[in-house]
Amino acid sequence: MAYPRLFDPIRIGSMTLKNRIVMAPMESHLGNADGSVSAEMIAYYRERALGGTGLIVIEFTCVDGHDGFSSMAPQLRLDNDRYRSGHGKLVAAIRSAGAHACVQISHAGRQSRESVIGRTPVAPSPVPLKSFFLNTGTPRELEEEDIRRIIASYANAARLAVSAGYDAVMLHGAHGYLLQQFLSPLVNRRDDQWGGDFERRMRFPIEVVKAVKAAIGDRTLLYRLSVSDFLDGGLTVEDGEKIAPRLCEAGVDGIDISCGSLDSVDVIVEPMSIAEGWRLPMARRIRAATGKPVICAGVMRWPDKAEQAIVDGDTDCVSLGRALLADPMWPIKARRGQAADIRPCTSCNWCIKETGSNRSVSCAENPRCGHETEPPIDGYGEGLRATVVGAGPGGMAAALMLEQAGFDVTLYEKRERLGGNLITSATPPNKEKLFWYHEFLLRRMERSKVTVRTGTAVDADMVARERPDALILAGGSRPAPLELEGYGNLPTAPAYEALIGEIVLPPSTPDRPILIYGGGETGTETAEYLAQRGHHVLLVSRSAASLLARNAEPLYRMHLLRRLRENSAIRIMDRTGLAAIDGDHVLLTREEERIAQPAAAVLLAHGLVPDTTLSDALGGIDVPTIRIGDAVQVARIGEAVRDAYRAVQDLRRLILQPEPIAC
Ligand SMILES: Cc1cc2nc3c(=O)[nH]c(=O)nc-3n(C[C@H](O)[C@H](O)[C@H](O)COP(=O)(O)O)c2cc1C
Ligand code: SF4
Repeated sequence: MAYPRLFDPIRIGSMTLKNRIVMAPMESHLGNADGSVSAEMIAYYRERALGGTGLIVIEFTCVDGHDGFSSMAPQLRLDNDRYRSGHGKLVAAIRSAGAHACVQISHAGRQSRESVIGRTPVAPSPVPLKSFFLNTGTPRELEEEDIRRIIASYANAARLAVSAGYDAVMLHGAHGYLLQQFLSPLVNRRDDQWGGDFERRMRFPIEVVKAVKAAIGDRTLLYRLSVSDFLDGGLTVEDGEKIAPRLCEAGVDGIDISCGSLDSVDVIVEPMSIAEGWRLPMARRIRAATGKPVICAGVMRWPDKAEQAIVDGDTDCVSLGRALLADPMWPIKARRGQAADIRPCTSCNWCIKETGSNRSVSCAENPRCGHETEPPIDGYGEGLRATVVGAGPGGMAAALMLEQAGFDVTLYEKRERLGGNLITSATPPNKEKLFWYHEFLLRRMERSKVTVRTGTAVDADMVARERPDALILAGGSRPAPLELEGYGNLPTAPAYEALIGEIVLPPSTPDRPILIYGGGETGTETAEYLAQRGHHVLLVSRSAASLLARNAEPLYRMHLLRRLRENSAIRIMDRTGLAAIDGDHVLLTREEERIAQPAAAVLLAHGLVPDTTLSDALGGIDVPTIRIGDAVQVARIGEAVRDAYRAVQDLRRLILQPEPIAC
């Protein structure tokens, strides 16, 4: 068997897991509006259980609807007997698919919103939360009787969980939720029996653990611990080493290693720049300190790494969060030695953007994530021909899904390489994980029967001649029109051509830099990419510097902007326009001023618009046609792949049943 240690059974508390793979708790927004379990949620979790995961941890579930909800509603709840039966069905679905089931129970404390709970959020001390994700004002300090009520709520939720059939309960003691608020000196400023020094800050978590343990009897109790706040003056790993053994003495059977709070979200759901398995050294220390099984989450992406972490004694189990959104079949594929077939999570955090906008969980690469109740793509296209124009991520995904639907598919790409915007997105520094996805798509493409024609531009005549039964236009975008007073003979090109390797840039100096016009994601990333290659860059942005890369994934952006600020090869001019390219320099405008700036070359990153050239030219050609991705609206990989999935479903209807009703 591949990865024997990963598939070694393990006993944690009273449960014996069939392997060391745990699904990390992740809010899915798939529950019903009243906080109960829905059919969609059951299907979503069951799919991950069918994929071979040993322990499924259900997302954070509120112990007290009075003031315990997180800032995101609706949230699952277990504070009343009426929620039990839904959880019972969920547990049964998971168990019947061969996994154990655990539920994470939580109280958000100050990480809530008045608009969600209808009252001022509560906390150990009135310390406001000023995270860029959430700004909640000053919370109300908890009184003794509130604290007692909340401890009882944890115990009540745990009792309901056990009676619903859960094998284990996990306390959410991480990510800045109430348990962590009591532990962290940054938030707990009390000077009474619930705070003041380490011992008194420990008191609330210890009392919760004892109350929950008493409520669940011999069922397993897990504790998700942020072993470090990653904030000045906050909890450190050394604190974690003292806290974890105390929790275990009080009744915890295993620690799930996490870190951070809403003030340091970039260590909770790490952006693309963070290395695989970076939390393992922390897990190792907590494992040594407690002698109890530990579970380690955080950018575990490939079975090799997971196996090695267990072999090395860093952790006992690995927790997969986003990796299981991208590919629920990760464990089965690992077990079969088919790691290269795993659809790899790239930490692009599109899923975070979706759930953060209160939409249901989804994955940029796996459009079925969160839609598991929909039937799989069937063979409706047997005997038919489909053409896909454009081989970016959306086009490649569409071609593969059309083939799955039975079509004889031809994929056209005007460039010599498949990948389109996926290549330009993956090329800048710290984004190499995106190449994992590129390589995955190429492998899938190679194994498929899709006919690939690179270096071939498609026009309307070609479509008219070939007359496919279905046509998907995934031709992407083109630079937005840019009106200048003049174009001189300085080398000028769209910035993405530099990223894709289609142009060779002349040497640059601090006085005669490469000028990039446009402070969006492409402009800023191209600046970093060129600086890494020894160029001197002048990044010119029409907007204020505070708005640089404003559409980038926020956590990635935080790191990107920090790196830009620290990079001496990059100079930024904000609130500046480009008036003309003139001989060996450019003319810039800033307020009333006109500035002649020498430049070695100009790269344009001022914006993109959908390229509709082909669809405009198709006119009256009667072929069922759907446009997807940037060819409709310039967005991200997730939107393009989701469009592709919807297009393949919509074509089914267009082809098989153009009229949905008979009257
Ligand atoms: C969409 C999403 C929702 C999450 N919700 C929770 C949650 O409910 N409780 C929790 O403890 N962590 C939550 N997390 C954090 C994950 O459990 C996990 O620790 C984190 O994503 C890092 O692991 P990964 O790299 O395997 O994804 C969430 C993460 C994601 C991506
Ligand atoms: S959306 Fe991106 S980060 Fe989220 S699971 Fe999918 S690939 Fe991973």
